[in-house]
Amino acid sequence: MRVISIVSGKGGVGKTTVVANLGTILASKFNKKVILVDCNITTPHLGLYMGIHQHSITLNHLMRNESEVSEAVYVHPSGAKIVPASLSLNDLDGIDMMHLKSVVNSIKVTYPDTDFIILDCAPGFGREAMAGMRSGDEVLYVTTPYFPIVIDIVKCVHVAEELNLENIGLLINMKKNNKHELTDAEIGNITELPVVGSIALHHDVLNSLHKKIPVCVTKPNSKVSKQFIKLASLITGESSPKVTFLDTVFGLFD
Ligand SMILES: Nc1ncnc2c1ncn2[C@@H]1O[C@H](COP(=O)(O)OP(=O)(O)OP(=O)(O)O)[C@@H](O)[C@H]1O
Ligand SMILES: [Mg+2]
Repeated sequence: MRVISIVSGKGGVGKTTVVANLGTILASKFNKKVILVDCNITTPHLGLYMGIHQHSITLNHLMRNESEVSEAVYVHPSGAKIVPASLSLNDLDGIDMMHLKSVVNSIKVTYPDTDFIILDCAPGFGREAMAGMRSGDEVLYVTTPYFPIVIDIVKCVHVAEELNLENIGLLINMKKNNKHELTDAEIGNITELPVVGSIALHHDVLNSLHKKIPVCVTKPNSKVSKQFIKLASLITGESSPKVTFLDTVFGLFD
């Protein structure tokens, strides 16, 4: 079982988008058993991105030892399981983020045949973000191709080193390939991380957010979906499944 924290120094770079799409692809195309956990407890978005946001029992209840793990686990149509966090401000009462690691351990024990647990972390280096990092074994860093955001990743790498986490590498999101952006090679040099993929800035992603369905489902043939599949392939070490005729037909209907 691999437990991967998806992290960034700066917020809004695309972590939750990555978690939703990677999780969906690993479950539906690579037949992996996947559990996605929204560790961004103060501003949780993962459930909203995946259409799972109206459930009464959440990660918050597990953090307060009020519910059994299985009660906070919901199955997405892709097959991926998701543990959403509560959207209610009141549900932040009585939460100690230091308890997150033991909750993740309980998830592991409850679902021992899981292939991947993916943690959607809060950005930055506060208690919430640190708890997400501490609860994983491996880290996938997400950045945009701009200097200040990349510099924040360098700090994340130092923290991960201190926590003895294994680096998967860096995903560059929202690429436009214009001349103001840092190149992959420049970003690799600054962070000393392997660049494991890049995702274009694309309106299909925003359209999918509006539908509360990951873009790899709404537009399986789009450029960004193919880039997410490539990332999943790199993480699993398995070759990417071909886009099927049915995917193409459903893509046309969209
Ligand atoms: N490749 C992309 N193309 C276009 N829009 C994108 C792309 N990736 C993410 N977005 C949009 O950018 C916004 C921020 O993305 P997201 O919520 O995934 O970032 P985040 O890193 O999880 O943010 P936070 O740190 O606040 O949790 C969302 O509106 C999302 O739809
Ligand atoms: Mg997020």
